[in-house]
Amino acid sequence: MYTPIPGRFAGKVAVITGGASGIGAAMATRYVAEGAKVLVADSCPIETGNAFVAELNKNTGDCGTSSGTINAAFHQCDLTDSEQATGVIAQVISIFGTVDILHNNAGALAMGTVADMPPEAWHMMYKLHVDAPFYTSRAALQHMLAKPRAEPPRTDDRGVIINTVSTAGVRGECGAAAYSSSKAALLSLTRVMAVDHAMDGIRVNAVAPGYTNTPLVALGQTVMDVLINQVPVHRSAEAEEIVSVMMFLASKEASYVTGAVWDVDGGVLARGMLNTGELRKALVEAGVMG
Ligand SMILES: NC(=O)c1ccc[n+]([C@@H]2O[C@H](COP(=O)([O-])OP(=O)(O)OC[C@H]3O[C@@H](n4cnc5c(N)ncnc54)[C@H](O)[C@@H]3O)[C@@H](O)[C@H]2O)c1
Repeated sequence: MYTPIPGRFAGKVAVITGGASGIGAAMATRYVAEGAKVLVADSCPIETGNAFVAELNKNTGDCGTSSGTINAAFHQCDLTDSEQATGVIAQVISIFGTVDILHNNAGALAMGTVADMPPEAWHMMYKLHVDAPFYTSRAALQHMLAKPRAEPPRTDDRGVIINTVSTAGVRGECGAAAYSSSKAALLSLTRVMAVDHAMDGIRVNAVAPGYTNTPLVALGQTVMDVLINQVPVHRSAEAEEIVSVMMFLASKEASYVTGAVWDVDGGVLARGMLNTGELRKALVEAGVMG
């Protein structure tokens, strides 16, 4: 559906958290097709992750464990653990020697209102969407800040960080207290990191996807029908459509873009009006909300 731009990321090393499924997997595929080396960091089973990167290496024809060159590697980790989140950056440096692009993309959806959400689920959302990006970004920034500046310096000569937030982080998504508010925190962290490191050759941006066809939103047909009815373009997105914007933001064409949040949502946030009563009814009927 989308034609890769050959060589756009040649010589670059990218880390994608949550890179084994959905948006992250589509991104890993595009990066390798456009010349980057990629570490896929994900909590999925090792066999699944290894099979995915083996396919990526095969498709680029550069699999050569014999020649010692691989384009993609898998690292199993639970990002809700701070040491494992930090360890992702140590891993990419140990395999590929550096890190140029970090995508904090891993996510999960725990539904619930403040009244009925178990505290464990609340904390899990914050560990995954706020703490994990803090630990990975912290380790990546320490590495990026130690790189020499280019001559002449550029706004991203030391690195790029892209955070996957959500339209749910921009407004109050019905029945998603922890998901919405944790994504809002990541959105704010994006802006702060962008400002703090604007003069350091590091750009930091966020992408806010709307409803995208991935396992994350397996909420059942009734809920999806209600959600899609509220999208101005009247359909959900394919992961590739989100990835196209992320790849632009990671590329040098976006050299003057930092601290931005790009809505890739089929017009959802532009429209603003939502019938939350109808959505709540569908979520309760689907058994996703009490
Ligand atoms: N699909 C949507 O409609 C949608 C909308 C807005 C935002 N998003 C965001 O996009 C990002 C990607 O989600 P997706 O839709 O591709 O979903 P997905 O479920 O296909 O992918 C999420 C990935 O994150 C990984 N992950 C989850 N918890 C983890 C953990 N503790 N440690 C390591 N990895 C973990 C999963 O194994 C999975 O591979 C998420 O941040 C999500 O919140 C998705």
